[in-house]
Amino acid sequence: MSGKRVFRGEISVPGDKSISHRAVMLPVLATGVSRVSGFLNAADSLSTAGMMRALGARIDEVSPTELRIEGRGLRGLVEPDDVIDAGNSGTTIRIGSGILAAQPFLSVITGDRYLRRRPMGRVIDPLTRMGASILGRDGNRLPPLCIRGGALHGIRYEMPVASAQVKSSLLLAGLYADFPVTVVEPIQSRDHTERMLAAMGAGITRDGNAVTVAPCERLDPLLMTIPGDLSSAAFFLVLAAVTPGSELTVRGVGVNPFRTGILDVLRGMGAEIRQVGERLEGGEPVADLVVRGSELVAARVVPEEIPGLIDEIPILCVAAAFANGRTEIRGAEELRVKESDRIASMVDCLSSLGIPCGEYPDGLWVEGPAVVSPSGPCDSRGDHRIAMSLRILGAAAKVRIEVTDLGCIDTSFPGFPSLLDGLTR
Ligand code: S3P
Repeated sequence: MSGKRVFRGEISVPGDKSISHRAVMLPVLATGVSRVSGFLNAADSLSTAGMMRALGARIDEVSPTELRIEGRGLRGLVEPDDVIDAGNSGTTIRIGSGILAAQPFLSVITGDRYLRRRPMGRVIDPLTRMGASILGRDGNRLPPLCIRGGALHGIRYEMPVASAQVKSSLLLAGLYADFPVTVVEPIQSRDHTERMLAAMGAGITRDGNAVTVAPCERLDPLLMTIPGDLSSAAFFLVLAAVTPGSELTVRGVGVNPFRTGILDVLRGMGAEIRQVGERLEGGEPVADLVVRGSELVAARVVPEEIPGLIDEIPILCVAAAFANGRTEIRGAEELRVKESDRIASMVDCLSSLGIPCGEYPDGLWVEGPAVVSPSGPCDSRGDHRIAMSLRILGAAAKVRIEVTDLGCIDTSFPGFPSLLDGLTR
């Protein structure tokens, strides 16, 4: 690609979305007052706050990113008097279902038109086995879900897919069960729930890919500063990494080892990314990330690597469009049931931009370095990570790419457009 500009400076990104969800759910179940800073004030995490408020929680915004949360104790939630709206957020409905399944009342939870197409059998099946009664559309597979919670039993559950949302849902339900709940993952996924539960005094143990939670009487309140979201940082890391002459620092980013797959793959492609000033905050590893632009080579991403970079695959495809050779990503069939079918979304958009690429049932390939030549608007399909990836592609290639429904970016990163404008000005 020609005419590259360089990207230099220091930025920070909003709080981690996964941790923000958990940091507004778990404190409501605690005994005492929790304080959380660095909270992601974006549509998805606000959906979770809305769900917890509907269950009787008092959550005060001390500032847009600082919350004061009054715990109601594990058994102090109340029956919501209306349908709970999870918006676009799979994390809200899936992890939330684990809490709702344990309550002695009825809840109905739904979401937007995208969420109502996403599979929920993965939480309904194991929670039903634990004793909850859950109904959903399409033969108990799709939202809205109608959950009559109650006494739950401990189980050992071998998960068919690696999913932190499903694991977390079962661990939270397990707090209320009569015996321990053990969840076995095919490949380990992000462990934010386990870390937070441990910090709040719950009995959590890990043995290889198996995590066990003990029945719990009481959780301690949480005092935590949430680190920046590596999934949000990844957009800017790629922007700088594909542009020789760039040097960008992203301050205070969470580098939980189950989330750093994108850093490993980009480094394997020849990107220079340093982790500086590593520290622990609230039980989570945090670092400043310094990236320098260089010529990249293609990557081969194998199934075992997927859970560690599942949300970064759209932006990895952008890096691949600049890298020399054919990047192959396999074992990523989960991408088909994210906020959109991200394999189809990326292949459609990249193809319409003239970038050689193609689909596999379980992944995709992208060949670079490519010339970006738009033939019409790109459809984000209402998916925030697709929209942001395309904006980065346009900025890096110095080409105007029209993207539909940029409003979906508010799901996870409302400040993205202005941060990008600041770097490209
Ligand atoms: C998340 C887990 C991942 C990820 C999602 C957030 C979480 O989903 O894609 O954006 O917060 O636990 P799965 O657990 O379904 O893989």
